[in-house]
Amino acid sequence: MAEFAAVELIMQKREKGELSTAEINWLIANYTTGAVADEQMSAMAMAILLNGMSRREIKDLTMAMIASGETLDYAGLAAPTSDKHSTGGVGDKITLPLAPLVAAFGVAVPQLSGRGLGHTGGTLDKLESIKGWRAALSNAEFHKQLAEVGAVICAAGAGLAPADKKLYALRDVTGTVEAIPLIASSIMSKKIAEGTSSLVLDVKVGSGAFMKNIDRARELARVMVQLGQDAGVNTSALLTDMSTPLGLEIGNALEVKESVEVLAGGGPADVVELTVELAREMLRLAGKVDVDVAAALKDGRAMDKWRQMISAQGGDPDAELPTAREHHVVLSPADGVITELDALQVGTASWRLGAGRARKEDPIQFGAGITLHAQLGEKVRAGQPLMTLHTDEAVRFERAMEALDGSFKIEAAAIAAPRKILLDRIDG
Ligand code: URA
Repeated sequence: MAEFAAVELIMQKREKGELSTAEINWLIANYTTGAVADEQMSAMAMAILLNGMSRREIKDLTMAMIASGETLDYAGLAAPTSDKHSTGGVGDKITLPLAPLVAAFGVAVPQLSGRGLGHTGGTLDKLESIKGWRAALSNAEFHKQLAEVGAVICAAGAGLAPADKKLYALRDVTGTVEAIPLIASSIMSKKIAEGTSSLVLDVKVGSGAFMKNIDRARELARVMVQLGQDAGVNTSALLTDMSTPLGLEIGNALEVKESVEVLAGGGPADVVELTVELAREMLRLAGKVDVDVAAALKDGRAMDKWRQMISAQGGDPDAELPTAREHHVVLSPADGVITELDALQVGTASWRLGAGRARKEDPIQFGAGITLHAQLGEKVRAGQPLMTLHTDEAVRFERAMEALDGSFKIEAAAIAAPRKILLDRIDG
């Protein structure tokens, strides 16, 4: 491999230059081994955030991150594979009902997932609130469960895109998370290395998402769809609303409870709509069209898969979910319609109640979070409960209430415009 000097590559990007394929390969390979130092990679990440990257550079960066570790494949599997990735939001528990729902149609879902950091929750944290459930599987266990059950949600092993693991941790503490080239290469390197044949991206837009406006979300979606297609993964993206929380429950065990309601044929309409929409898209990309997705939620097929999926990883699907010790109810101050209910503020409050972590080694409270008693667009009466805050430590209420200050608006004469979940789609 050609030899370069990290400082020269940083200066090149600082001056808005393009890095060659050889330079990017060298940088990522040497960052993975530690020969390029964290402070150099931090400066490079900031130069990329400020000056951007061409499509060719983003593709090279993604490929170099994949090459930093192992890749999986499903050559021996009879079923086609399809996966979904969400860029993260408040109350976004969709993976939980979605994976068993898609598997119920004979399409295997190999989902390697992460933990939550900041105000967005992580799928593994949610599932770990189920008694006995185990996130860490060996490669052999993973392949066996995929073949026998058809759905696995587990922790990505250390061997998958290790360059991304290092870089993501660095970005988190250097103010460089929001760069489109870095987000796109981070997400797609892991998903391509995971080996799925098709992939639906749920790119969130709004206050509770990385992308606050739709133009940037569209750009991120286009870049990721192109990366997937270039790597031979049949990829598409849905742009979906994250200006207000999804569903009524926010917090780990609370979100599992709501997911089980959806799998039992109930649950809030927005969660059901997005689950069905994403399942249709995952199935379409895997070659299954003309299937009645919603019926599998109503008739118990998706629930059966869920129970198998949880049991296969040591979880007890019938165990009681953890609940918090302390509760605080927020009442509506007026009669009217909820015309604003801000996702970021609700997510931050839930996090402060103990549902999330500030550093990756922090413990979380499985029962902590927020239950909404009404959603955006609904009518409420003065004195009616608007939300219940849950935590194990009552001292947390004050900071959570500060986060909620100004998070909702109730207007007397307002006409509720129906909430639109699906904002746009980008096909490969
Ligand atoms: N999720 C990731 O895996 N990486 C990012 O950069 C952002 C969200």
